[in-house]
Amino acid sequence: MSADPTLTKTLFIKTYGCQMNVYDSARMADVLAPLGYAQAAAPEGADLVILNTCHIREKAAEKVYSELGRIRALKQAKAARGETMLIAVAGCVAQAEGEEMLRRAPQVDLVFGPQSYHRLPDLLSRAEAGEGGQVELGFPIEDKFDSLPEESLEQGPSAFLTVQEGCDKFCSFCVVPYTRGAEFSRPVADILAEAERRVAVGALELTLLGQNVNAYHGSGPAGASWGLGRLIRRLAELPGLARIRYTTSHPRDLDDELIAAHRDLPSLMPYLHLPVQAGSDRILAAMNRRHGADDYRRAVERLRRARPDIALSSDFIVGFPGEDDRDFAETLRLVTDVGFAQAYSFKYSARPGTPAAKLPDQVPEPVKAERLAQLQSLLDAQQAAFNQASVGRRLEVLLERRGRAAGQLVGRSPAMQAVHVAAPESLFGRLVEVEITAAHPNSLAGRLLDGDAGLRAAAPQEAERACA
Ligand code: SAH
Ligand code: SF4
Ligand code: F3S
Repeated sequence: MSADPTLTKTLFIKTYGCQMNVYDSARMADVLAPLGYAQAAAPEGADLVILNTCHIREKAAEKVYSELGRIRALKQAKAARGETMLIAVAGCVAQAEGEEMLRRAPQVDLVFGPQSYHRLPDLLSRAEAGEGGQVELGFPIEDKFDSLPEESLEQGPSAFLTVQEGCDKFCSFCVVPYTRGAEFSRPVADILAEAERRVAVGALELTLLGQNVNAYHGSGPAGASWGLGRLIRRLAELPGLARIRYTTSHPRDLDDELIAAHRDLPSLMPYLHLPVQAGSDRILAAMNRRHGADDYRRAVERLRRARPDIALSSDFIVGFPGEDDRDFAETLRLVTDVGFAQAYSFKYSARPGTPAAKLPDQVPEPVKAERLAQLQSLLDAQQAAFNQASVGRRLEVLLERRGRAAGQLVGRSPAMQAVHVAAPESLFGRLVEVEITAAHPNSLAGRLLDGDAGLRAAAPQEAERACA
């Protein structure tokens, strides 16, 4: 991908799971660039293949083992030519399985968790020296952020920035507190510096990431602890930063400061992913969510009072142990009451080591499937209605990727809807005004309104870099 002659080896990274893994993969590439690794688009022939994995549901973890089977064949093909390929497993499956991974998949050379990838150079040199499978599962997150190099790779017009990691909530179904460890918030100054660098190389939009991002409590310049609302307020002052988003939030941690930021800051996009998981108080308690269904309804009311056009998204789990028809009906009622612009819904998947996996009354698979279908059809109808209501409106769209059709660019509306427009390549990475002409189940189509200029361009050096 890069023409840099100092990059002599190739690296292929495949990313599973959440946006934090996407961010981590980019940072792994940053760590490896000084060692001469350039990123490749496919694993064939690569010197190093990294699978950055997700352990959230059973299926996500299984995918990793089947991918490792395919990669073993590529490693063997290389070995037949007298060349080597190193295989690394990173992320949450690596953290959860550790040594076990090397036993189940002996073709793997390195196993390291989400808090250990700053140690990649050391792990690689030991693996290259033939010291056998290397496993690194350390937890001190401070070390990681302190020892990572500055980001060397651009993420384009819309960039991710991890501000918080880990989770102390311990929802009874969830592996995250075990794979990502305790909550840790990066200091404000580090975040501001990274944000400035991102904007300088062309980001118009930043998405602040954290497993529980609205529990952010980083130390501010004078030592006091800052919440997420205050951090966003400060970021909104950065010249050139047109849009701010954050994900994922917990309903319990939605404080007044954050709601006020939604009220006051035009660059804080009117969209919030606020997982609720279920609508029955009995199930929410068994999930150890620490909020009831009405707490969620009230949180939504407060948000809508502050920012009436805010679009809401959520996550749902159906078939949690003990969920009966009445509980499930409460979930449907909550969805009907709130009205979501979009949402993700999953069948409960028992995860080893989590308290819910040991609960009696596991719900049979066909019941989960039936409930999921019912919930998804309600959510799909709400999403379709939300998209339909956008037709005829003018929306600001950040054109951030190329469409499948020639001459088409795709961007996001303020409410995160994908918008397809016919637009010249020169508008890639620009914020443009679009009139929405049609709504589809998962996207919108629109017509460019401001022709050639774009409402806002990226910082000037980006234009040069993009052409280079
Ligand atoms: N930190 C975020 C998201 C965590 S994982 C939050 O607290 O909301 C993303 C989503 O995966 C969760 O919101 C939940 O809906 C789903 N999920 C997590 N564990 C699961 C499990 N064991 N089975 C099914 N879905 C699960
Ligand atoms: Fe998992 Fe709950 Fe933490 Fe979200 S808040 S990461 S669902 S434990
Ligand atoms: Fe998956 Fe780990 Fe993210 S389990 S959802 S990759 S935090």
